Amino acid sequence: MKFLGIGSALPKKVVSNDDLAQVMDTSDEWIRSRTGIGTRHIAVEETTTSMSVEAAGKALKDAGVSAEELDLIIAATVSPDYIFPTLACEVQSALGAVNATAFDLGAGCSGFLFALATADAYLRTGRFKKALVIGAETLSKMVDWEDRSTCVLFGDGAGAAVISAEGNGLLSMVQGSDGAGGMALSCKNRPVNNIYHKLGPQQYSFTQMNGREVYKFAVQTVPKAVSEALEKAQVPIEEVKYFLLHQANIRIIESVAKRLHQPMEKFPTNLEKCGNVSAASVPILLDDVLKQGLLQKGDKVVLAGFGAGLTWGSCVIEWQA
Ligand code: ACO
Repeated sequence: MKFLGIGSALPKKVVSNDDLAQVMDTSDEWIRSRTGIGTRHIAVEETTTSMSVEAAGKALKDAGVSAEELDLIIAATVSPDYIFPTLACEVQSALGAVNATAFDLGAGCSGFLFALATADAYLRTGRFKKALVIGAETLSKMVDWEDRSTCVLFGDGAGAAVISAEGNGLLSMVQGSDGAGGMALSCKNRPVNNIYHKLGPQQYSFTQMNGREVYKFAVQTVPKAVSEALEKAQVPIEEVKYFLLHQANIRIIESVAKRLHQPMEKFPTNLEKCGNVSAASVPILLDDVLKQGLLQKGDKVVLAGFGAGLTWGSCVIEWQA
């Protein structure tokens, strides 16, 4: 496969650490020093669907591909507007992508990598030719705004990529899961509640995180996954122009860079402005890097995601667009 076009969308409202410090017991110093986050975009009028449609429209324009040409849409999200219909079907409808098969998948912050891997596998069957892959989240509705240890970390946004079956831009893909560690980062869905098992009035559940466990998982797993992907692609690490990692936390990214013996200059970031946008963070970062003109044809780039599940994914791509 190869990438034909990329797009992203962020909510208009920007919330700084100082803004948060006015409404909860936190500070710019605490958030910035522990996470690297300075601001995040928070949805007010936007929804997961509206941001996905905007990002997808930009990706299609960038690719020079019409919505009707798409035969596959995969959306990665843990925060869709509806449990059903899926986000992918809503995007299909809004775009008029009438020839596409559309479905969602959930793999937390690894979602975009998992959706890309799935789309690539579908394209390889020969049954599909052009796919739209989306990572989109409105995590601001999934966090407890009374819990300062999690709500300051996340932001909202969407990123999308149009990919084609023609081309050999994906040099390797590595994925993994460790369900046994899953409760380190969780958000409950509705509990069993019916006439045979009646519960009282239910409250929504919110994101819960054991930050230290997640940190340990990330710094141990991501360097391994990246090294495996490079080995599989037979690409020496020195040939990698950029490592585009899920934007969870600057300390995780610094630790991964150190463990891979690579300079931080090779790890572009946007978490300072966007916070942690879960499944949307890798495609938004890829869009940022492209907009800055930092990628040329033939450049080798590593993408890596990690998060709830626990899950991880890493791939090596050669930029061919
Ligand atoms: N502002 C001020 N103080 C805070 C805040 C806040 N927003 N949040 C927590 N604190 C306080 C705590 O109450 C605690 O106070 P206490 O010592 O008086 O009890 C103190 O700060 C330390 O809290 P810890 O949770 O131990 O802070 P830690 O140094 O571990 O940092 C962090 C938390 C940044 C989340 C860290 O664990 C981390 O980097 N984890 C990695 C996981 C991560 O980045 N997750 C993002 C989402 S998951 C993903 O995308 C894969």
